[in-house]
Amino acid sequence: MLSYLHGFHAGNFADLHKHAALWLILAHLRKKKKPFCVIDTHAGSGWYDLGSEQAAKTGEWKDGYGLAKAALGAPDMLQQYLDHVAAFDPVAHGWDYGVREMDEYTGPFYPGSPFIVREMLREDDELVLMELHPREYENLRHRVKRDPRTHLHKRDGYEGLVGMMPPAIRRGLVLMDPSYDVKQDYQKAANAVRQAWDKWPTGTFMLWYPLLEDGFDAELRSSFAAIKSTGGVMCAELAADQGGAKGRMRGTGLLVINPPWQFDQQLDEIGTWLANTCKLPGPAKHSIHWLVAAA
Ligand SMILES: C[S@@+](CC[C@H](N)C(=O)[O-])C[C@H]1O[C@@H](n2cnc3c(N)ncnc32)[C@H](O)[C@@H]1O
Repeated sequence: MLSYLHGFHAGNFADLHKHAALWLILAHLRKKKKPFCVIDTHAGSGWYDLGSEQAAKTGEWKDGYGLAKAALGAPDMLQQYLDHVAAFDPVAHGWDYGVREMDEYTGPFYPGSPFIVREMLREDDELVLMELHPREYENLRHRVKRDPRTHLHKRDGYEGLVGMMPPAIRRGLVLMDPSYDVKQDYQKAANAVRQAWDKWPTGTFMLWYPLLEDGFDAELRSSFAAIKSTGGVMCAELAADQGGAKGRMRGTGLLVINPPWQFDQQLDEIGTWLANTCKLPGPAKHSIHWLVAAA
């Protein structure tokens, strides 16, 4: 069942936290000349018009990106990311970013993970994208097809990831960002990441999960406690103590295997600032927890 459309949620507090973490990892990968690859298993449609009807219907971005953009005093790396988003204008790139004359755009725009990565790629770096929703896939295809560093697959991101391990370029990141519209996604995501890590133990893996009242996140975290990764396994959570309306997230989590050096401290500083700046269902906190200590 593919009922989820990211356009309703793009730029919310969970996106900001996840994309700031992605930005930190990409900045780290760019420190060395050696090429890197990014595999984005649940890519979405690439970029989002925050002036669209979808975005207006939930207004979620106003409590996330909207508040962060207007606030002062963001940590340096987050400010860099926010400036990057503010400057992101697919319409200025026209056809190259899949802008069609027949469509109407209002803006402001928000880059999804494919375009955050794409703008950080160098000539020899590679981006692999998987997306299963027919319409989201078509939008994404139209938007990325002119970039030779990007490879797009209309494929299940769980089995697709395991099938392409290890990647030809052995430095890099897997981002798994499922929509969890069915409960089996928790198990599928955990299994796929564990199997992929088995075949690529030096890769960095970042798995997003929501914090809902159902408590499935606890099971997901505990299924990684036995991984013997020398780089360690950590979780970063931005969350309110209490839930919102039924089915609404009280918080957002990232499980990261082999995070870059000092990523935990950098993300904690960013997450704490977001907790004090964005609007969650109640007073919010950021926390870092190591499931497996780095050796
Ligand atoms: C949360 S959204 C992705 C957002 C994107 N990663 C970003 O940060 O901009 C999840 C996406 O996964 C897609 N999807 C759902 N199940 C999938 C599967 N099994 N394989 C690949 N994509 C899937 C959905 O259609 C949706 O577009």
